[in-house]
Amino acid sequence: MKVTVVGAGAVGATCADNIARKELCTELVLLDIKEGIAEGKAQDMMQTATLLGFDTKITGSTNDYTKTAGSDVVVITSGLPRKPGMTREELIGVNAGIVKGVCENILKHSPDAIIIVISNPMDTMTYLALQSTGLPKHRIIGMGGTLDSSRFKYQLSQHLGCSPSDLNAVVVGGHGDTTMIPLIRLATWNSTPVTNFLSAEQQEKIVKDTMVGGATLTALIGTSAWYAPGAAGAALVEAIVRDEKKLFTCCVALDGEYGQKDICLGVPVTIGRNGWEKILDFQLNESEQAAFNKSADAVRSMNDVLKTL
Ligand code: LAC
Repeated sequence: MKVTVVGAGAVGATCADNIARKELCTELVLLDIKEGIAEGKAQDMMQTATLLGFDTKITGSTNDYTKTAGSDVVVITSGLPRKPGMTREELIGVNAGIVKGVCENILKHSPDAIIIVISNPMDTMTYLALQSTGLPKHRIIGMGGTLDSSRFKYQLSQHLGCSPSDLNAVVVGGHGDTTMIPLIRLATWNSTPVTNFLSAEQQEKIVKDTMVGGATLTALIGTSAWYAPGAAGAALVEAIVRDEKKLFTCCVALDGEYGQKDICLGVPVTIGRNGWEKILDFQLNESEQAAFNKSADAVRSMNDVLKTL
């Protein structure tokens, strides 16, 4: 197995680090446009191999896509990150050009790759990747909901005083502060609805804190978060290379599912060797479906910006 991570910034490097530690592939390429950064971080990670005990071979490359040839999975993290006070949406103009170029270069050398999109605004970048490459829809996966669901479980665990691993909880819709929908009604603590244990105020706070999870970290750190985004990318790579058929919320092309078409949006999907394989119908109630439709409207108007670039 060969995996490429494009973008050796904090998210890309963390994603690569997780992939290597878990030995998800034999060959891992880290590529960046900035001279030396990918080579340097790749070497730094390789120097942890004997300490951490992994055999994955990591190579860094300054924009030489021939090194990525024959990749089975490619994770795209390229683009500008958010600064404090910035929305993910404000990045669209710059990042659209970057993501489109990366997709073209990747497919020249890895025509069969499955592509995971992390770059923001993630829903629109996933849609752009799908439209610009013309790849079969199952091979383009946006990572957002995987990260947001993990943040949702963290928030729930803080209030319940439980292990986040005992929770099942998903965030659907867009990967934006106002477009994501933490489905608290369906969240369970080992099969029991979490709503049995939380007051209405607690539930409201958990949902709100989840939605601004990324922005909260950006304000604290001064730039976008990277540990959870990188780990979320690696979890999807793992599900693909191990053909796990695990359920994640990912941003995928909808063709009538959840009442939406011609859009990429976060829904529960199984992930395996073919990319995203099956969309699960969580049977949203009326208000959840209304929120999903509103989220789709917001993402659609962001996608429309692509036409003006
Ligand atoms: C975040 C960025 C990666 O949510 O979108 O932290």
